[in-house]
Parts: sequence; C-alpha cells; structure tokens
Amino acid sequence: MTDLRRPELLDPARHDRSRFDSGESALDEWLRRFAGQNRRRDTAATWVIATPEDRVAAYASLAMTAIDRSAAPRKVAKQAPDPVPALLLGRLAVYKDFAGLGVGTALVAYVLATAVELNAKAACRAVVVAALDARVRGWWERLGFHAFHPDDPTDTDLYLLTSEIEATLRGLGD
Ligand SMILES: CC(C)(COP(=O)(O)OP(=O)(O)OC[C@H]1O[C@@H](n2cnc3c(N)ncnc32)[C@H](O)[C@@H]1OP(=O)(O)O)[C@@H](O)C(=O)NCCC(=O)NCCS
Repeated sequence: MTDLRRPELLDPARHDRSRFDSGESALDEWLRRFAGQNRRRDTAATWVIATPEDRVAAYASLAMTAIDRSAAPRKVAKQAPDPVPALLLGRLAVYKDFAGLGVGTALVAYVLATAVELNAKAACRAVVVAALDARVRGWWERLGFHAFHPDDPTDTDLYLLTSEIEATLRGLGD
C-alpha cells in the first residue's frame, strides 16, 4: 500500500472529506453530509484510512444490526435466536486515486478484526454487507463473503460468519 495511515475513526474536524471521489456520488455525499450526524446520533461509526495530510483515502461505516432468522441461510440461522445478531458494514468506498492498491481490502480486514473483538464482548454471529451491485459482489466473495441467495446472481446481500473471519484474515496475510 502507499504511504497511508492506519484505520482510525473519522474526525470531522481533522479529516478532509471535501474532495473525496469514489466514482459513486451517493457514497461520497454520505461521507460529506451524513457521517458526522450518524456518529452523533449513534447510528453509524465511520472508519477511515487517511493520507499523511489527513485526506480521506477510504472509508467504511459500521453499525450493529440483526438478521431475520426466518430468511437467513442455514449456517446463519442454525441454533441462533431470532433475530440473529450481526455487524453491518453499511458503506465502503475508496478514493479513485487509491483504487486497486489494496486499500479497500485493508479497511475490510480491519473491520473484520474489529468484528472479532466485538464478538468477544457482545456476540455477533456474522458481518453483513449490501454490495453496491452484482459487479462488486465478486470483490466481496473473494474475501470469503457468501450471498444470502447464492443461486440468484443479482443478489447483493452478503455475509461472512464471525467464525470464518480468522480464515479470511489468514488468507490475506499470505
Ligand atoms: C470496490 C472498492 C471498495 C474496492 O476497493 P479497492 O481498494 O479498489 O480494492 P482492492 O485494491 O483492495 O482490491 C483489488 C483486488 O480485487 C480484485 N477485484 C476487483 N474487482 C473485483 C470483482 N468485481 N470481483 C473479484 N475481484 C475483484 C482485483 O483483481 C484485485 O485483486 P488482487 O489484489 O489479487 O490483484 C472500490 O473500488 C470502490 O470504492 N468502488 C466504488 C464504490 C463501491 O463500489 N463500493 C462498494 C460498496 S459495496
């Protein structure tokens, strides 16, 4: 990876979000306009990877969530309460200038390690993401995520069991 900082919580007073451009304007606008208020309202925490000059190079938003057990795949639902506790990786975006350099993967790896820590303190069975579109689904599957409905190629709802995270992180370490 290029010379970037380690993942840290978004500091609206310090991090420069004004020029952030991932190519997905809805994700860019969310970072600029809604990340701060979601933090203040305790509805989403935003993690960033920044340049040494505090320009945001990538961000991910996290929140607790719950999966409807009746609609969950067997691996998620098995011997679990209803709803099934989970962590939502709600948004992920990388500044275009830094795309393809492993920054997105590094931020997800950090989020997965965070999920393991959270799971120890307040159990969560899985990490769930809503992929932006079917094209990005392959990007998540490469990290071990599974579609909720694998037979439907248009399904963009994905999950990774917390018990599978270690294997994903080991794979990235190779
Ligand atoms: C999708 C996104 C987050 C990826 O982040 P990134 O930092 O560019 O990705 P990385 O550099 O970590 O990963 C690149 C790897 O993924 C692979 N890859 C890229 N697209 C892929 C796809 N659709 N399916 C499978 N693999 C894919 C690349 O070949 C590369 O593999 P390699 O490391 O073996 O060479 C980023 O491109 C982005 O912000 N896109 C716009 C917003 C968006 O789509 N967000 C997703 C929200 S769900």
